[in-house]
Amino acid sequence: MYENYKNILQKLKEETLHRNINPIKKHGKYIDIDSNTYLNLSSNDYLGLAENRAVINGFLKNCGFSLGSASSRLLTGNSFVYHELESLLAKLYKKDRALLFNSGYHANVGIMSSLAGKKDAVFSDKLNHASIIDGIKLSEAKMFRFKHLDYDHLEKLLKEHRHEYENAIIVTESLFSMDGDFCDFSKLIKLKEEYNALLVADEAHAVGVYGENGLGAAEAAGATSKIDLIIGTFGKAFASMGAFCAGNEILIDFLINKSRSLIFSTALPEINVAFSYYIITEVLPNMECSRAGLVKLSGDFRNLLKEYNIPVTGNSHIVPVILGSNENTMNCANKLTGCGYYLLPIRHPTVALNSSRIRISLRADINFEEIKNIPEIIKEYVDISQNDIKLAM
Ligand SMILES: Cc1ncc(COP(=O)(O)O)c(C=O)c1O
Repeated sequence: MYENYKNILQKLKEETLHRNINPIKKHGKYIDIDSNTYLNLSSNDYLGLAENRAVINGFLKNCGFSLGSASSRLLTGNSFVYHELESLLAKLYKKDRALLFNSGYHANVGIMSSLAGKKDAVFSDKLNHASIIDGIKLSEAKMFRFKHLDYDHLEKLLKEHRHEYENAIIVTESLFSMDGDFCDFSKLIKLKEEYNALLVADEAHAVGVYGENGLGAAEAAGATSKIDLIIGTFGKAFASMGAFCAGNEILIDFLINKSRSLIFSTALPEINVAFSYYIITEVLPNMECSRAGLVKLSGDFRNLLKEYNIPVTGNSHIVPVILGSNENTMNCANKLTGCGYYLLPIRHPTVALNSSRIRISLRADINFEEIKNIPEIIKEYVDISQNDIKLAM
């Protein structure tokens, strides 16, 4: 009865694609496994807030919020704290309204599957996150995938196909989670306006870090007013849980009525929403130096990799070193672990086949000294991957 599943698992093992969930103990920027301690460079805790006891205790001191919501928001799972956070986000992003979701996954699946219908087309960057793709698939809309950050290709697709569909939606991540590069909002906005399309931007990895007020890459680019829906998550730099989108009255009203991941799922507990509110109002405004420090650290570390001739994509605090094969990447990750760095290998299906990588996720609470040995360790595996490419040619 279980034979097929067993065979699939066996095949994953043979291809070095099998995953496990390891028991780990986190404290600050470190992770303990057995009796060893590692520097955690694999999380999305970009501002180092998730394990920050002072921040957590500061919040819990005056906390009388419930730990469960017991139903969807459309029933009684709702609470005034939701509305306070939504009003705050709408004000910060200068949009009519904001809407909370249980996670970034819920947000993308719920938004894409409801905004697009059978007669619509979605133009999606090839490297968009799985949750965006899953949402588009659920929508039954026609999906056109343009080459990563290739806006000439996007324009070609829009020119050829836009007229065949009722609504068109262009969807992109603002900072690509596995490649560390940014979309170009000015080009996307031009195309959106020219081809009468909605523009949806997922800021999951940019909120908290970029922009004058930490609102994301769109704020940094001065583009928030031109984006129809801005999506952000609370589970990464904001060290909480949940997600939001901000947009105009009609879109938010539509999502409340049509987004199935919102309607058919128990709402986040009050305490969680209140913690997100606390992070944005009490913690984020004091993190300007941390954010600037993280940007500087990212530039310095990227320069160091360049000195070692290690190719990396992007220009953010997410620093991916592509090593090609699963084996080579696993070996590199194991070596890094042996040297005290918790850097998990990123493999298919998270990234394309043969583009396995070490994704170095920099954080504001580390310094250059702590990571300056990494290129020396990785170099050997970059050489192996280049040899692999030569052999394959
Ligand atoms: C771009 C992007 N959007 C959405 C998500 C999902 O967010 P969450 O973890 O809150 O479900 C992720 C998760 O890593 C992501 O990378």
